Amino acid sequence: LTEWTRVGDLNEELKDKEVLIRGRAQTTRAVGKNMAFVVVRQKGFTVQCVVTVQPDFVSRQMVKFVAGLSRESIIDVRGLVSVPSVPIKGTTQQVEVEVRKLHCISKAMPTLPINIEDAARSEKEIEEALQAGEQLVRVNQDTRLNYRVLDMRTPANQGIFHIQHEVGSIFRKFLESEGFDEIHTPKLIAGTSEGGSAVFKLDYKGQPACLAQSPQLHKQIAICGDKERVFEVGPVFRAEDSYTHRHLCEFVGLDVEMEIKKHYSEVMGIVDRLFVTMFDHLNEKCKKELDAVRRQYPFEPLKYLRKTLRLRFEEGVQMLKEAGVEIDPYGDLNTESERKLGQLVLEKYGTEFYILHRYPLAVRPFYTMPCYDDAKYSNSFDVFIRGEEIISGAQRVHVPELLEERAKACGIDVSAITTYIDSFRYGAPPHGGFGVGLERVVMLFCGLNNIRKASLFPRDPLRLAP
Ligand code: 4AD
Repeated sequence: LTEWTRVGDLNEELKDKEVLIRGRAQTTRAVGKNMAFVVVRQKGFTVQCVVTVQPDFVSRQMVKFVAGLSRESIIDVRGLVSVPSVPIKGTTQQVEVEVRKLHCISKAMPTLPINIEDAARSEKEIEEALQAGEQLVRVNQDTRLNYRVLDMRTPANQGIFHIQHEVGSIFRKFLESEGFDEIHTPKLIAGTSEGGSAVFKLDYKGQPACLAQSPQLHKQIAICGDKERVFEVGPVFRAEDSYTHRHLCEFVGLDVEMEIKKHYSEVMGIVDRLFVTMFDHLNEKCKKELDAVRRQYPFEPLKYLRKTLRLRFEEGVQMLKEAGVEIDPYGDLNTESERKLGQLVLEKYGTEFYILHRYPLAVRPFYTMPCYDDAKYSNSFDVFIRGEEIISGAQRVHVPELLEERAKACGIDVSAITTYIDSFRYGAPPHGGFGVGLERVVMLFCGLNNIRKASLFPRDPLRLAP
């Protein structure tokens, strides 16, 4: 028998068949000298394996060896699938494996900094266990991140990071099918791409430089170089001193830039179809993963429309006003008003995913195109999931004189971005695009309360390891 069966695929159809599995010894338990149980876990799925003394196959020594295996050791098990008459508690699979052979492939140290079973409990399960007088250690976020290699092994985290993969994969596939080419722009750049002080500065062989805050400038240059439609998946660096649930110092940027024929609604159209395709795909193809996440971190499925709602900024301001929240009509929304508007939109339109567009120009980056009919507003938009921003996008200024003027007005050091501004002097098509934060999408689609849960190795102002 050389074919491997995945723990997640073990089911009643395999009854009496011999299978070969590899996984981790999650827990072991001896029952007298002739029997032991080992729960084997592979990628979040678990199965109970029974080791009983049997002439020809299992010795007493073997039973003792299995009972003494340290948690998280990697083992290969060969055995027969059986279906117990009573339901099995505490494993994902409803069959057992009667062990005939077992090899330890890699031994884990006897005591681990995190117990995976504890780390996998939901808040409700923790409360119940504590009330029942059980001894258990609540694994806090910092401990989880310090020992991410162990924390990653919980079913919820296996689910989250598979979903993260799927989001990136659908982003690529959808855009490719719409005629976009993937590009790769430098992360070491001379001038800041988004302005502001949130930049990691560094010395580039004697020249001042910084880590790119986004591929903004280069993706636009690529459009001026006739790429027509481009996207990029890459790291984005923000040196912000934000200790919030949704800011990281490094995140994965999913960026899009495209020529516009007539109106920036063409860009919003891409957002609309990309995300409806993505959400449909996640709901259909990631059921197991979503269930695993939901078991530990309960959440309701995202409510979204077949055609994404587009709301004007002014309408948003009006809705907030009617609900008793006054905001500056030419200012930005803060976290609180974004949340509130999210609630109002859900009540009125029945969606937790929508586009807010025509933002006041004053709150947008220098490269944003003012509205042709009213320069106090801009051809720009943000996109929200459950009242929190996941995307910002816009039509860009493609007229070099206006671009230079806007950059200066926004306090940008124009001398550091002359090659960017010059790119528009050789003829530049109208264009626009948007940037998505990958971790934000995963966090908010899964209703998680902290972006660190959606980043494998998060970087925040206090964390540079692992
Ligand atoms: O809103 P941002 O800063 O926009 C840009 O970077 C533009 N160049 C995009 C464009 O094409 N116009 O960032 C885009 C997205 C945000 O909507 C958010 O999802 C995410 O990136 N983001 C962050 N994610 C995690 N941590 C942070 N500190 C983030 N800052 C922005």
